[in-house]
Amino acid sequence: MPKVVAGNWKMHYGPAETANYFARFRPDANPESVSLIFFVAGLSLHAAKTSARVPVELGVQSIHWEPSGALTGETSAEMAAEAGASFALVGHSERRHVFGETDAEVGRKVAAAVRAGLVPVVCVGELLEERRAGRLAEVLRRQVSAFLPSLQGGGRFMVAYEPVWAIGTGETATPQDASDAHGIVREALGELGRAPILYGGSVKSGNATALMSAPDVDGVLVGGASLDPEVFTKIAMAGDSAGGSTGGGSAG
Ligand code: 13P
Repeated sequence: MPKVVAGNWKMHYGPAETANYFARFRPDANPESVSLIFFVAGLSLHAAKTSARVPVELGVQSIHWEPSGALTGETSAEMAAEAGASFALVGHSERRHVFGETDAEVGRKVAAAVRAGLVPVVCVGELLEERRAGRLAEVLRRQVSAFLPSLQGGGRFMVAYEPVWAIGTGETATPQDASDAHGIVREALGELGRAPILYGGSVKSGNATALMSAPDVDGVLVGGASLDPEVFTKIAMAGDSAGGSTGGGSAG
């Protein structure tokens, strides 16, 4: 399985900046070794689709669970798919902690993604105080059990383990921390435990290789460092090497 190198641009880059970015993003990567996904603003999907010069897949950063309705400001999974997305982030820590998204809502959004034919990339991760209190496994199991029923009918999905204390802070989980947490998630997924599990949280060009070579780490979800096309090219190439080697984690 190829390693997954995904960029989450968050609320950055409208259509013109997106086109500029892709003019400069040209990794010489083998699609069989690394799969590149960009979670862009919905309004920039079209620009991304028409300006990317290398094979990339596109996703949105959030969806609503209803297919349509009087829900001002929201985007449905069906609309995202029609506009060119193949993936949807669900339950990103900023959605959970800034916008108050609950485990139950994450479950409904995963079901909506599956319904619309999008691949959900479901984010889980603990707060610093939860980790310090020895509650890592409990939190991850609770978050996984909330969306697992939405996947019972089948459909491709991924999980991103993003410890909240490592997002945008410069603090990174060690490769061992990532492997340990991914093992917990895999076990909690039960018979669906062969799905790819990505690590996210202050991934940079300097730590991407070590993280992607760790057991059970199938790729990375990158925030800040994905905003610079030259830096993200290096991370894509780290995925290319890790995915092409025999020593990395398995993506099942
Ligand atoms: P940073 O890479 O900026 O820490 O963000 C991680 C993240 O939230 C990716 O979804």
